[in-house]
Amino acid sequence: MILIDGKKAAAELRAELKQEVTELKAKHNKVPGLTVILIGDLTPSQIYVRNKEKSANEVGLKSEVIKYPDSVEEKTVLEKIKELNSDKTVSGILVQLPLPKHIDKQKVIEAIHPSKDVDGFHPMNVGNLSSGYESSIPCTPLGCYLLIKKFEPNLNGKKAVVVGRSNLNGKPMTQLLLKENCTVTITHSKTKDLKAECLEADIIVAAVGIPELVRGDWVKKDAIVIDVGINKTDKGIVGDVHFEEVSKNAKALTPVPGGVGPMTIACLLKNTIDCFKRSQI
Ligand code: GUN
Repeated sequence: MILIDGKKAAAELRAELKQEVTELKAKHNKVPGLTVILIGDLTPSQIYVRNKEKSANEVGLKSEVIKYPDSVEEKTVLEKIKELNSDKTVSGILVQLPLPKHIDKQKVIEAIHPSKDVDGFHPMNVGNLSSGYESSIPCTPLGCYLLIKKFEPNLNGKKAVVVGRSNLNGKPMTQLLLKENCTVTITHSKTKDLKAECLEADIIVAAVGIPELVRGDWVKKDAIVIDVGINKTDKGIVGDVHFEEVSKNAKALTPVPGGVGPMTIACLLKNTIDCFKRSQI
């Protein structure tokens, strides 16, 4: 079994992006800028945002974090987004999720101009991705896609099973695999025989949020398995894949941590640079 090293792939991608930022700076005399809005004091969100800021600085992006307390009014956030939409130094805007209950997530997502939507959550980008047009692509599925392509460049006709149907992961992942000419089955918690579906797969992407759901005997011998899960359990952080069992069966597998996670942040930087480049045309 080959361990797909997301940490190493992310470091390589960041090095390429750093080079690209240097070249853009020489050409345009400005650098892409990422602004993250963080609401409330949820620890995981704070950690994510700190990592995003650190990585953005590392590749030479202009990075800013705007923090609001949990009690902030929706209107204040929407006004700030409007201001950032017309700020030429801001290439990408990300509002860290989850949001407090009194703030309408969809309203916030739709307030971000599609050309600055580094998350790829705006309906315009969702639609463009599903139609096969140029769009921002959500960072986690984009990271999974790049890891799969690095390992297996030709996905023509492969059978892919995506476990999970979220807007964040499962649905955009399906679109990316379809674009690569995979035959894609999208499964979820109500799928009748998940094991039988997975056993058909050349590629499994598990993004369902259930600890160690995908077992060793669910996986074909030569399958590529991508584990998007980050689940807190009594034995620490585990993925949606039973690592020990599946590592005995699969051809290639991503670890948790050190698999998809580092790629997600690197892809956010890539999306910011891509938004900047599109805005210069
Ligand atoms: N919270 C957890 N993952 C994400 C993500 O990809 N984007 C945003 N905006 N918030 C998140």
